Amino acid sequence: MNQRSQGHSSPNPTRSGSLLELNRVTKEYRGREVPVRALDAVSLSVPAGSFLAVMGASGSGKSTLLHCASGLEAVDRGEVMLNGVDVAQLDEKSRADLRNSQMGFVFQSFYLLPLLSALENVELPQLMAGVGQDEARRRAEDCLASVEMTHRFDHRPNELSGGEQQRVAIARAIVNNPAIIWADEPTGNLDSEHAANVMELFVDLHQAGATIVLVTHSPQIASYASGVVVMEDGRVIGQDRRPRSSGRRRLGRDPRVDGDVHRRPPRNATGALDDGPGRDGRRGRRRQESDETGPTHR
Ligand SMILES: Nc1ncnc2c1ncn2[C@@H]1O[C@H](COP(=O)(O)OP(=O)(O)O)[C@@H](O)[C@H]1O
Ligand SMILES: [Mg+2]
Repeated sequence: MNQRSQGHSSPNPTRSGSLLELNRVTKEYRGREVPVRALDAVSLSVPAGSFLAVMGASGSGKSTLLHCASGLEAVDRGEVMLNGVDVAQLDEKSRADLRNSQMGFVFQSFYLLPLLSALENVELPQLMAGVGQDEARRRAEDCLASVEMTHRFDHRPNELSGGEQQRVAIARAIVNNPAIIWADEPTGNLDSEHAANVMELFVDLHQAGATIVLVTHSPQIASYASGVVVMEDGRVIGQDRRPRSSGRRRLGRDPRVDGDVHRRPPRNATGALDDGPGRDGRRGRRRQESDETGPTHR
């Protein structure tokens, strides 16, 4: 990951020292005979710089947690503190501004705008944030380079593979230097090799200082994170600072990689991933094993 393109905004942690803190957040979906309590008094603390996986079976409330914690949806009860601001108390317009200025999103279905090129998709959130056109273009190029997409600037989403679309979506998510990056099943539509490449990008972002909350039902995907919380029936039922010993696993069987699970897939001569030409290949920093506190829930 291109460190130069990151420069994440310096977090201004909450009272407890966490970047994000949920206090007894409850969310019900009504409009049915029996309302669904999708979140049931969830409390969670996410320190700045952590890479947290939220795991659980389908229907356990993972996406609802992401929607409520990011202000995409209103909550019924409880506090969602981000950088000392209670997101839950903001009106919809303020929540939208906060999302655009302080959060990046990566979804299973990419959600790139189909009529815009890769470059334009990454420029857009900056233009919405008031960045000038020239600066927005320069930063979009930089972020696309950092996800090794320099060869596809002018392509529209339907001219890109799923893995490439997700890399553009990641570039879009990081372009405004967010305090926190949310990812909801980001590899759900990808084959195992592209999924591994996308997860390596998240690991690189984390190592460059990003705070990431990633929702997944897959233990393999969760193993890239540095901590995990497990949900069941709208509650957090468990947590683990490191889901597995290595903190990173490759997905499926990749014939290019031998038995060493710590090794990255080999790069071509320019240092790019094998599915396209790249730029400087300045990746490969090792995970810092000792520099962060895990998530906590109460
Ligand atoms: N818009 C909605 N209206 C009604 N029920 C919903 C809505 N969204 C989610 N649910 C329900 O809330 C629960 C949690 O859903 P969700 O957070 O999407 O789970 P997950 O992401 O873990 O699969 C499920 O029982 C689901 O059916
Ligand atoms: Mg979901």
